[in-house]
Amino acid sequence: MALPFGYRLFLVIIVLFAIITVNSDKLVAIPFSILLSIVMYYYGTYYFGSIWEPAPMDKVRKMVSAVSVRNKTVYDLGSGDGRVIILAAKKGARAYGVEIDFLRYLLSLYKIRKAKSNAKVFLNSFFLADLREADVVFMHLQQETVWKLEDKFLKELKKGARVVSYIFRCRKLKLVKSMKKEQIYIYRIP
Ligand SMILES: C[S@@+](CC[C@H](N)C(=O)[O-])C[C@H]1O[C@@H](n2cnc3c(N)ncnc32)[C@H](O)[C@@H]1O
Repeated sequence: MALPFGYRLFLVIIVLFAIITVNSDKLVAIPFSILLSIVMYYYGTYYFGSIWEPAPMDKVRKMVSAVSVRNKTVYDLGSGDGRVIILAAKKGARAYGVEIDFLRYLLSLYKIRKAKSNAKVFLNSFFLADLREADVVFMHLQQETVWKLEDKFLKELKKGARVVSYIFRCRKLKLVKSMKKEQIYIYRIP
C-alpha cells in the first residue's frame, strides 16, 4: 500500500526521534521523549483520517449556526476535545461525537462534564460509526478522508441530511451553501 508523502515523512521523524532518544543520555532523552509524545498526540492519528488541529471557536460557532440543529441528531466525525458537540448540544441538538484518540476522548468527556452538557462521545473510528439517524454531520478532517467518507454518507445518511465541512470540500455531494471566507461548505443528501 502506498503511504502518502506526509505520513512517510512523519514516520521517518518518529524513527529518528526514537533512535536519538535511545542513544542519548538522560538529559537529551527526556526532552526528546516529551517532544515525541507531543508530536504523537497531534499527528499520531494522521493515518486514521486526520491529525488533531482544533477548529478555532469562531469557526465552530459559524459552522453550528450555519445549519439548524435544534431537536436534530448531530454528529461530529473526529470530535477532538468536543467543542462542536458541546456547542450543538447547547443549541438544543442531540449531539454525538466520534473520536479515535483515547486521550482526546478522555479530554472531551471531561469538557462535556465541566460544561454540564448532554453531548455524548464514542471512542470509535468514524468509518465504523452508524450515521443512519444523523440529520447533520460536521467534519473538520483532511481532503482524502472527506472524499472517502462521501460514499458512506450517500449510503447511510437520510435524504435531506446536511453535511458541514470545515476547510475541505466534497466532490460527490450537492453543495447548498458555501461560506468561502470562513471555508465552511454545506452539502445536502439528495
Ligand atoms: C482536525 S481534528 C478536528 C477536531 C474537532 N472536530 C474540531 O473541529 O475542533 C480531527 C480529529 O479527528 C480524529 N480522528 C482522526 N481519524 C479518526 C477516525 N478514523 N475516527 C475517529 N476520529 C478520528 C483526530 O484524532 C482528531 O481529533
